[in-house]
Amino acid sequence: MLNLSNFSSFFVANWKLNGNMAFINDYFDALNTKSQNCVVVCPPSIYIDKIKKNQKNIFAGAQDVSKFISGAFTGELSAEMLNDMDVKFCLVGHSERRQNFNETNDNIKLKIGNLINNNIIPILCIGESLEEKQNNKTTEVLTKQIKEGIPKISNNENTIIAYEPIWAIGTGLTPTINEIDQIHIKIKKIDDSLNNYKILYGGSVKSSNSKAINEIDSVDGCLIGGASLKIEEFNNIIS
Ligand code: PGA
Repeated sequence: MLNLSNFSSFFVANWKLNGNMAFINDYFDALNTKSQNCVVVCPPSIYIDKIKKNQKNIFAGAQDVSKFISGAFTGELSAEMLNDMDVKFCLVGHSERRQNFNETNDNIKLKIGNLINNNIIPILCIGESLEEKQNNKTTEVLTKQIKEGIPKISNNENTIIAYEPIWAIGTGLTPTINEIDQIHIKIKKIDDSLNNYKILYGGSVKSSNSKAINEIDSVDGCLIGGASLKIEEFNNIIS
Protein backbone atom coordinates (compact mmCIF):
# COMPACT_ATOMS: atom_id res chain seq x y z
CA MET A 1 0.00 0.00 0.00
CA LEU A 2 1.21 3.51 -0.72
CA ASN A 3 2.40 5.62 2.18
CA LEU A 4 -0.06 8.52 2.20
CA SER A 5 2.23 10.64 4.35
CA ASN A 6 4.62 10.93 1.39
CA PHE A 7 2.26 13.49 -0.15
CA SER A 8 0.81 16.74 1.07
CA SER A 9 -1.95 16.91 -1.57
CA PHE A 10 -3.95 14.43 -3.63
CA PHE A 11 -5.63 15.13 -6.96
CA VAL A 12 -7.94 12.41 -8.17
CA ALA A 13 -9.35 12.49 -11.72
CA ASN A 14 -12.70 10.72 -11.99
CA TRP A 15 -13.35 10.22 -15.70
CA LYS A 16 -16.71 8.53 -15.05
CA LEU A 17 -18.09 6.98 -18.27
CA ASN A 18 -15.81 8.95 -20.59
CA GLY A 19 -12.64 8.41 -22.62
CA ASN A 20 -11.34 6.07 -25.30
CA MET A 21 -7.92 4.96 -26.55
CA ALA A 22 -7.27 8.09 -28.61
CA PHE A 23 -8.27 10.30 -25.67
CA ILE A 24 -5.95 8.38 -23.32
CA ASN A 25 -2.96 8.70 -25.64
CA ASP A 26 -3.45 12.45 -26.07
CA TYR A 27 -4.04 12.87 -22.34
CA PHE A 28 -0.84 11.19 -21.23
CA ASP A 29 1.22 12.91 -23.91
CA ALA A 30 0.13 16.20 -22.35
CA LEU A 31 -0.08 15.34 -18.63
CA ASN A 32 2.28 17.29 -16.38
CA THR A 33 4.32 14.55 -14.71
CA LYS A 34 6.39 17.04 -12.72
CA SER A 35 3.73 17.75 -10.12
CA GLN A 36 4.95 17.11 -6.57
CA ASN A 37 1.44 16.05 -5.59
CA CYS A 38 -0.11 12.62 -5.68
CA VAL A 39 -2.04 12.39 -8.97
CA VAL A 40 -4.54 9.56 -9.43
CA VAL A 41 -6.37 8.90 -12.70
CA CYS A 42 -9.54 6.78 -12.48
CA PRO A 43 -10.61 5.79 -16.01
CA PRO A 44 -13.35 3.31 -16.85
CA SER A 45 -11.86 0.01 -15.58
CA ILE A 46 -11.27 -1.49 -19.02
CA TYR A 47 -8.63 1.20 -19.61
CA ILE A 48 -6.81 0.90 -16.29
CA ASP A 49 -3.90 -0.91 -17.89
CA LYS A 50 -3.44 1.98 -20.35
CA ILE A 51 -2.87 4.58 -17.67
CA LYS A 52 0.72 5.75 -17.94
CA LYS A 53 1.53 5.74 -14.26
CA ASN A 54 4.99 6.22 -12.81
CA GLN A 55 6.67 5.12 -9.62
CA LYS A 56 6.70 8.53 -8.05
CA ASN A 57 3.39 10.32 -8.12
CA ILE A 58 1.07 9.25 -10.94
CA PHE A 59 -1.14 6.29 -10.11
CA ALA A 60 -4.07 4.36 -11.54
CA GLY A 61 -7.34 4.37 -9.65
CA ALA A 62 -10.62 2.53 -10.14
CA GLN A 63 -14.13 4.00 -9.92
CA ASP A 64 -15.68 1.04 -8.12
CA VAL A 65 -15.00 -2.53 -6.99
CA SER A 66 -17.09 -5.59 -6.27
CA LYS A 67 -18.23 -6.27 -2.72
CA PHE A 68 -17.59 -9.94 -3.49
CA ILE A 69 -14.23 -11.67 -3.37
CA SER A 70 -14.74 -14.15 -6.21
CA GLY A 71 -17.32 -16.49 -7.68
CA ALA A 72 -20.44 -16.41 -9.83
CA PHE A 73 -20.94 -12.63 -10.03
CA THR A 74 -21.11 -11.80 -13.74
CA GLY A 75 -19.75 -8.38 -14.65
CA GLU A 76 -17.92 -7.75 -11.38
CA LEU A 77 -14.24 -6.86 -10.77
CA SER A 78 -12.64 -7.84 -7.48
CA ALA A 79 -10.20 -5.89 -5.33
CA GLU A 80 -7.64 -8.63 -5.92
CA MET A 81 -7.97 -8.15 -9.69
CA LEU A 82 -7.54 -4.39 -9.34
CA ASN A 83 -4.42 -4.96 -7.26
CA ASP A 84 -3.16 -7.32 -9.95
CA MET A 85 -3.45 -4.41 -12.41
CA ASP A 86 -1.41 -2.18 -10.08
CA VAL A 87 -4.37 -0.05 -9.01
CA LYS A 88 -3.44 1.94 -5.89
CA PHE A 89 -6.70 3.79 -5.15
CA CYS A 90 -10.40 3.11 -5.65
CA LEU A 91 -13.45 5.37 -5.31
CA VAL A 92 -16.18 3.88 -3.16
CA GLY A 93 -19.70 5.15 -2.62
CA HIS A 94 -19.67 7.90 -5.23
CA SER A 95 -23.08 9.61 -5.14
CA GLU A 96 -23.74 8.55 -8.74
CA ARG A 97 -23.39 4.93 -7.63
CA ARG A 98 -25.49 5.53 -4.52
CA GLN A 99 -28.23 7.18 -6.64
CA ASN A 100 -28.19 5.11 -9.84
CA PHE A 101 -26.93 1.71 -8.74
CA ASN A 102 -28.44 1.30 -5.27
CA GLU A 103 -25.08 1.47 -3.52
CA THR A 104 -25.71 1.07 0.21
CA ASN A 105 -23.52 1.82 3.22
CA ASP A 106 -23.41 -1.92 3.95
CA ASN A 107 -21.97 -2.63 0.47
CA ILE A 108 -19.55 0.25 0.84
CA LYS A 109 -18.24 -1.18 4.10
CA LEU A 110 -17.55 -4.54 2.45
CA LYS A 111 -15.87 -2.90 -0.53
CA ILE A 112 -13.59 -0.80 1.68
CA GLY A 113 -12.55 -3.91 3.62
CA ASN A 114 -11.79 -5.84 0.42
CA LEU A 115 -9.71 -2.98 -0.94
CA ILE A 116 -7.63 -2.56 2.21
CA ASN A 117 -7.04 -6.31 2.33
CA ASN A 118 -5.63 -6.02 -1.20
CA ASN A 119 -3.40 -3.02 -0.50
CA ILE A 120 -5.61 -0.54 -2.35
CA ILE A 121 -6.55 2.74 -0.70
CA PRO A 122 -10.31 3.32 -0.74
CA ILE A 123 -11.51 6.88 -1.28
CA LEU A 124 -14.88 6.96 0.47
CA CYS A 125 -17.19 9.56 -1.10
CA ILE A 126 -19.77 11.18 1.16
CA GLY A 127 -22.05 14.14 0.65
CA GLU A 128 -25.51 15.60 1.13
CA SER A 129 -28.21 16.47 -1.41
CA LEU A 130 -29.50 20.02 -1.84
CA GLU A 131 -32.68 19.14 0.00
CA GLU A 132 -30.70 17.70 2.91
CA LYS A 133 -28.53 20.81 3.01
CA GLN A 134 -31.59 23.09 2.99
CA ASN A 135 -33.09 21.11 5.85
CA ASN A 136 -29.86 21.42 7.88
CA LYS A 137 -29.31 17.69 7.65
CA THR A 138 -25.71 17.80 6.33
CA THR A 139 -23.95 16.68 9.53
CA GLU A 140 -26.53 13.96 10.15
CA VAL A 141 -26.17 12.60 6.61
CA LEU A 142 -22.36 12.64 6.67
CA THR A 143 -22.29 11.02 10.12
CA LYS A 144 -24.52 8.16 8.97
CA GLN A 145 -22.50 7.61 5.78
CA ILE A 146 -19.29 7.48 7.82
CA LYS A 147 -20.51 5.42 10.76
CA GLU A 148 -22.21 2.83 8.54
CA GLY A 149 -19.67 2.81 5.70
CA ILE A 150 -16.25 2.75 7.35
CA PRO A 151 -15.14 -0.69 8.62
CA LYS A 152 -13.02 -1.17 11.74
CA ILE A 153 -9.98 -2.06 9.64
CA SER A 154 -9.88 1.53 8.25
CA ASN A 155 -7.47 4.11 9.59
CA ASN A 156 -5.84 7.34 8.47
CA GLU A 157 -3.04 5.42 6.75
CA ASN A 158 -5.22 3.17 4.59
CA THR A 159 -8.41 5.13 3.87
CA ILE A 160 -9.19 8.57 2.41
CA ILE A 161 -12.49 10.45 2.66
CA ALA A 162 -13.81 12.70 -0.12
CA TYR A 163 -16.51 15.21 0.79
CA GLU A 164 -18.62 15.79 -2.30
CA PRO A 165 -21.88 17.70 -1.82
CA ILE A 166 -24.22 16.17 -4.42
CA TRP A 167 -25.58 19.58 -5.38
CA ALA A 168 -22.06 20.70 -6.33
CA ILE A 169 -21.26 17.78 -8.64
CA GLY A 170 -21.28 18.84 -12.27
CA THR A 171 -23.31 21.96 -11.53
CA GLY A 172 -20.66 24.69 -11.35
CA LEU A 173 -21.82 25.41 -7.79
CA THR A 174 -19.53 25.00 -4.80
CA PRO A 175 -19.83 25.69 -1.09
CA THR A 176 -17.92 28.75 0.09
CA ILE A 177 -14.33 28.32 1.25
CA ASN A 178 -15.51 28.76 4.83
CA GLU A 179 -18.28 26.17 4.42
CA ILE A 180 -15.82 23.60 3.02
CA ASP A 181 -13.47 24.24 5.94
CA GLN A 182 -16.25 23.98 8.53
CA ILE A 183 -17.59 20.74 7.08
CA HIS A 184 -14.15 19.12 6.84
CA ILE A 185 -13.49 20.07 10.46
CA LYS A 186 -16.87 18.60 11.44
CA ILE A 187 -16.10 15.35 9.59
CA LYS A 188 -12.88 14.97 11.58
CA LYS A 189 -14.91 15.39 14.77
CA ILE A 190 -17.52 12.75 13.94
CA ASP A 191 -15.22 10.23 15.61
CA ASP A 192 -11.85 10.62 17.34
CA SER A 193 -10.32 8.13 14.93
CA LEU A 194 -11.08 10.44 11.99
CA ASN A 195 -8.93 13.29 13.24
CA ASN A 196 -5.93 12.48 11.05
CA TYR A 197 -7.71 11.23 7.96
CA LYS A 198 -6.91 12.87 4.64
CA ILE A 199 -10.07 14.59 3.43
CA LEU A 200 -10.48 15.66 -0.19
CA TYR A 201 -13.08 18.07 -1.53
CA GLY A 202 -15.02 17.28 -4.72
CA GLY A 203 -17.76 19.03 -6.70
CA SER A 204 -17.17 21.51 -9.54
CA VAL A 205 -13.44 21.85 -8.86
CA LYS A 206 -11.74 23.64 -11.73
CA SER A 207 -8.49 25.52 -12.28
CA SER A 208 -10.10 28.83 -11.27
CA ASN A 209 -11.11 27.60 -7.79
CA SER A 210 -8.70 24.74 -7.02
CA LYS A 211 -5.96 26.91 -5.56
CA ALA A 212 -8.24 28.58 -3.03
CA ILE A 213 -9.81 25.25 -2.09
CA ASN A 214 -6.43 23.58 -1.62
CA GLU A 215 -5.17 26.38 0.54
CA ILE A 216 -7.77 25.50 3.17
CA ASP A 217 -5.96 23.79 6.06
CA SER A 218 -8.54 21.03 6.41
CA VAL A 219 -8.41 20.12 2.70
CA ASP A 220 -5.87 17.52 1.56
CA GLY A 221 -6.67 17.60 -2.13
CA CYS A 222 -9.50 17.34 -4.64
CA LEU A 223 -11.64 14.83 -6.50
CA ILE A 224 -12.23 16.21 -9.96
CA GLY A 225 -14.81 15.08 -12.51
CA GLY A 226 -15.57 17.29 -15.52
CA ALA A 227 -12.40 19.39 -15.32
CA SER A 228 -10.22 16.28 -15.19
CA LEU A 229 -11.28 15.46 -18.76
CA LYS A 230 -9.72 18.69 -20.05
CA ILE A 231 -5.99 18.10 -19.82
CA GLU A 232 -5.07 21.80 -19.70
CA GLU A 233 -7.47 22.35 -16.84
CA PHE A 234 -6.22 19.27 -15.04
CA ASN A 235 -2.57 20.26 -15.52
CA ASN A 236 -3.32 23.65 -13.98
CA ILE A 237 -5.08 22.03 -11.05
CA ILE A 238 -2.28 19.58 -10.22
CA SER A 239 0.58 22.03 -10.59
P1 PGA B 1 -17.37 17.38 -11.05
O1 PGA B 1 -17.51 15.89 -10.50
O2 PGA B 1 -15.94 17.81 -10.81
O3 PGA B 1 -17.68 17.28 -12.53
O4 PGA B 1 -18.32 18.23 -10.31
C1 PGA B 1 -16.86 15.49 -9.33
C2 PGA B 1 -17.17 14.06 -9.04
O5 PGA B 1 -18.29 13.60 -9.34
O6 PGA B 1 -16.34 13.32 -8.49
